[in-house]
Amino acid sequence: MSTVLNDEKIPNNVNLGGDKRLQRALEAWQPQFIEWWKQMGPVGWQEKDIYLRTAISVESEGWANFNYVKMPDYRWGIFLEPKNPNRTHGFGDFYGQPVWDEVPGEFRNMLRRLIVTQGDTEPASVEQQRDLGATAPSLYDLRNLFQVNVEEGRHLWAMVYLLHTYFGRDGREEAEELLARRSGDADKPRILGAFNEPTSHWLSFFMFTMFTDRDGKYQLSALAESGFDPLARTCRFMLTEEAHHMFVGETGVQRVVKRACELMKQDPNGDPRALGGIDLPTIQKYLHLWYTLSLDLFGGEVSSNAADAFASGLKGRYKEDRYDWNKTIKDEGVDFELTLPSNKFHRQIGMWSGQHFSPTGEQLDAAAWNAQRGAWLPNDVDETYIKSLMHPVYEPGKMASWIAPPNKGINGLPGDFVYVRNP
Ligand SMILES: [Fe+2]
Ligand SMILES: [Fe+2]
Repeated sequence: MSTVLNDEKIPNNVNLGGDKRLQRALEAWQPQFIEWWKQMGPVGWQEKDIYLRTAISVESEGWANFNYVKMPDYRWGIFLEPKNPNRTHGFGDFYGQPVWDEVPGEFRNMLRRLIVTQGDTEPASVEQQRDLGATAPSLYDLRNLFQVNVEEGRHLWAMVYLLHTYFGRDGREEAEELLARRSGDADKPRILGAFNEPTSHWLSFFMFTMFTDRDGKYQLSALAESGFDPLARTCRFMLTEEAHHMFVGETGVQRVVKRACELMKQDPNGDPRALGGIDLPTIQKYLHLWYTLSLDLFGGEVSSNAADAFASGLKGRYKEDRYDWNKTIKDEGVDFELTLPSNKFHRQIGMWSGQHFSPTGEQLDAAAWNAQRGAWLPNDVDETYIKSLMHPVYEPGKMASWIAPPNKGINGLPGDFVYVRNP
């Protein structure tokens, strides 16, 4: 296994050329993928030069290679972390035994379902975000959106490689289905509910990359511990890309929070909305919403599916992370605290669904819930207001009124670098 990616039609470090049957199958899937990308990827930006990073090696110096690229020419490929020949099962019923290089027959269906479910979220998010380029708050943010999008496309490649390589004919059929389902489609929707709603504005995009990609990171981190070694090695490389998505989300939310504080201090009545910003209580509602949507994606770790996958060694567990916006608010000298809601609040899936709880976890009857709902979660007025702020800002270095500039540019470049040419 090389760490350097060869320059075949499909860049890879898995010696694809050594398996002609697999190579042909993936080369047949490739044009379908490009077709899907052009049809369902970012609307109106396919011919533009975007300053993107592309992996040319899985070594730390090699996977972040920056240049202008037209998105359909992005070098999507198959990158696995090099194999550790001594790796053993770290948990579950097979603890201490060597990891599997082939799919164990008794877990084949469970494993295929894990891979297909993970794979389905990748193109789904690209589809959900396809219209956001029209209202980007800056060129910097526009470029970050597209970076996330092309990498989600590559994550689809990562899962399709596993399906084609290890699951024979049904794997190939699943790979076709991954390009056939469409986010929000009535007949062929994406598998998970949360991936069927369009990301209607940039605040939701930042919340999505902060919370839903964090869930994605948990899932990937769990799969990176899989006893099925090719899955573990695939997911380990995906995690290097996922870290950037969470960076986009966390710094995005943090910049909106910072701007809210700045405008609170500028406006005589302390109202950021008067100056084209988003106020902290509204940000809090979106945090409530996206945090709970993302918790639902776990399907409840109480579910027997997750427990079975863990016990059989297919999926490990991942530690909780922490959030840090309140430091920004404090640094701005503003007296306000953003909080995460109770795990019982606003759940659609799992043991707390079908009941009503306040953000602090007190149980409520339906009337009390309905009376407060619009104060805890974004209501129509909030959504209309946020959308009213969404106007494109394509002048290098300039920012929309509702977001603070980033602390630094991409790849050490200045904030006013032309991250997207001729927007
Ligand atoms: Fe992804
Ligand atoms: Fe992601």
